[in-house]
Amino acid sequence: MNGRRSLRAELAPLDEEFGAEVLAGLSREPKSLPCRYFYDARGSELFEEITELAEYYPTRAELAILRDHAGEIAARVAPGAVLVEFGSGSSRKTEILLDAMPGLAAYVAIDVSACALEGARSRLEARYPRLRVITRTGDFRMPLDLPAELAKAPRLGFFPGSTIGNLTREEAVGLMVDMRRALGKEPRLLIGADLRKDEALLLPAYNDARGVTAAFNLNLLARINRELGADFDLSGFRHEAIFDARQSRIEMRLVSLRGQEARVLGRRFVFAAQERIHTEYSHKYTVLDFQVLARRAGWSPVAVWRDAELLFSVHELIAP
Ligand code: AVJ
Repeated sequence: MNGRRSLRAELAPLDEEFGAEVLAGLSREPKSLPCRYFYDARGSELFEEITELAEYYPTRAELAILRDHAGEIAARVAPGAVLVEFGSGSSRKTEILLDAMPGLAAYVAIDVSACALEGARSRLEARYPRLRVITRTGDFRMPLDLPAELAKAPRLGFFPGSTIGNLTREEAVGLMVDMRRALGKEPRLLIGADLRKDEALLLPAYNDARGVTAAFNLNLLARINRELGADFDLSGFRHEAIFDARQSRIEMRLVSLRGQEARVLGRRFVFAAQERIHTEYSHKYTVLDFQVLARRAGWSPVAVWRDAELLFSVHELIAP
């Protein structure tokens, strides 16, 4: 078996990309680090813990929406359709859809993590013996070539978790254009977006009492130390999450507690006391706000579901 070798071959260029992006981000003014690197093994574990926190409402709210409306959502999808999940991770939310859509021709999971995909595949194949599971490792912006017998099947895209909220509005429009193109002739997309709400609810979700979000944020520096041989002093930075009302987004940062330096891949970076490294945006959209964004990407909003407490939204979009 050359499984190990091919996995290594896949990871090597990603490693280089990680290094290049970290150097570029730390060279920028203000300094920043890309949030998609939060999710190494430890980061994914911490994120799982976040989703179970009393203060972190989005995961619970979205699961409730999917459970309460799965039948209705499924009824709108043609039998023989292909479900395509972008950034599928562990595919936990997917099972709610799969339970409600027994007539699917296939489930396609796309993720950057080959490990997450294999875990999801074995779980789903055991649970849904009649379902055809197809996995694709990599960026979900690339064109989606499916086996010939599936090429003409209508495609339903699934992008839960409000991951779209991590992108700026411009980036979000670009990604929704790419997803529309990847979904073929009569594209349909189910996409989760966190709703704008009072700061009294928003801020604790990103500043939890047990400090799990802080650990999640700081783990990015730990990962850079481990994988890029850097020497960040983790006790020299603190987690910060604020709500920018004008941009309607949570902004997470790591704040330098004192003047200090760190070495990354042979380069020296200087941090002033109180200097920030931007690590993540999490945009909060009203229903209308999100529909405007979707329209800019060539989609027509056809339905939206929210939980009873109006914390989260799941939009259904189609394109002619
Ligand atoms: C997984 C991107 C939806 O923005 O709420 C959780 C990530 N960051 N706590 C979010 C996250 C801090 C999360 N998303």
